[in-house]
Amino acid sequence: MKLVIERLGHLGDGIARGPDGPVYIPGLLPGEEVEGTLNGDRLIDPRIVTPSPDRKKPPCPHARTCGGCLMQHAADPFVTAWKEGIVKGALAGQGLDAPFRPSHSSPPNSRRRATLAARKTKGGALIGFHARGSDLIIPVPYCHLLHPDLLATLPALEALTRAGGSRSTELALTVTRSLSGPDVSVSGGKELDGALRMDLARIAETHGLARLTWDGETVALRTAPMQRFGKALVAPPPGAFLQATPDGEAALLSAVTEAVGGAKRIADLFAGCGTFALPLSEQAELHAVEGETAMTAALEKGWRATPGLKKLTTETRDLFRRPLEPDELRAFDAVVIDPPRAGAEAQFATLARSAVPVVAAVSCNPVTFARDARLLTAAGFRLDWVQVIDQFRWSAHVELAARFSR
Ligand SMILES: C[S@@+](CC[C@H](N)C(=O)[O-])C[C@H]1O[C@@H](n2cnc3c(N)ncnc32)[C@H](O)[C@@H]1O
Repeated sequence: MKLVIERLGHLGDGIARGPDGPVYIPGLLPGEEVEGTLNGDRLIDPRIVTPSPDRKKPPCPHARTCGGCLMQHAADPFVTAWKEGIVKGALAGQGLDAPFRPSHSSPPNSRRRATLAARKTKGGALIGFHARGSDLIIPVPYCHLLHPDLLATLPALEALTRAGGSRSTELALTVTRSLSGPDVSVSGGKELDGALRMDLARIAETHGLARLTWDGETVALRTAPMQRFGKALVAPPPGAFLQATPDGEAALLSAVTEAVGGAKRIADLFAGCGTFALPLSEQAELHAVEGETAMTAALEKGWRATPGLKKLTTETRDLFRRPLEPDELRAFDAVVIDPPRAGAEAQFATLARSAVPVVAAVSCNPVTFARDARLLTAAGFRLDWVQVIDQFRWSAHVELAARFSR
């Protein structure tokens, strides 16, 4: 059977119109003609008859199987336009549109943080990303996503897996690049006892890990794993949220800084460890609100240790249950908001009722962003611009920054 791909699904699968409804074919691009045997809503053994001009040879030999990347077969301008289309589609679903600024995409080998799967094997250890839709681990020694410093931790991760993993269960290894060396956090490992603790500490020492955390317990702290946010240095708690690439973070910060303009009193909501609050406190007074106590504490410590910053206060608060109310928001002439994937419906609702004139929003989910944006535009805000900032190259993730004002 011959089919033509009409569009991409939300995971990047090509979608064609089959005799009984949509057919999903991974690795295909719109306009491509494909032949194969139809089995339900799948095409078995697809052979591309007419390739798209947007098709390119994937740089990684594992591109067809590894779940870390879904779009290596597509040229960068195509992926950028696809991601912008996803945001425009989500906005249109809420009756909204906006001017789009040129997108920013992070380069290959720039991910500074990743969670890898690992399993002990007869001969050693297998470490990598899961294959698509499977438990199989695809090794990543030449991964085109990860920063070389993360790839350089593979021998350490192998040693950790051999020491504290098992052949029947899988470890999750979160590795973050810090100014002081790799920060590694492991979950799913063997229960800690005296011997394992000593083994792990020795591995951390041998491989120069800044910190090693085992199922929530810090088992080695050679040196605090520092991150720089503007002039400030912060030691985030183990596993804390950080933007995925340094240049993506810089692009988000530049968009947010421009969006808040000359504001003098800014609230940073869902502030994390201070990615935006600390650099912004070089020019304005900040109130940083975050749900995790350890992150708020790290942010505040970084601020205290940095001379020359303006006043900054922190608050640990669940913004889903207890959003800042309009009378609290009166203190600010701009708000930065960067919620998790679920969005921040309750907080956007109180922003809509507040007198805040400018909102700089960052989002990793266009659907919840569009839902929340509508709350603001219905209350008289204008959506001034949107910019797609793609830190998750070759994936189906979409991130954006946007400015609202009134
Ligand atoms: C997308 S991250 C952004 C963090 C920070 N703006 C940054 O760029 O590093 C979202 C943050 O929201 C926090 N968070 C999640 N749920 C929350 C809640 N209900 N209330 C307050 N903060 C929450 C997370 O701990 C995380 O730090």
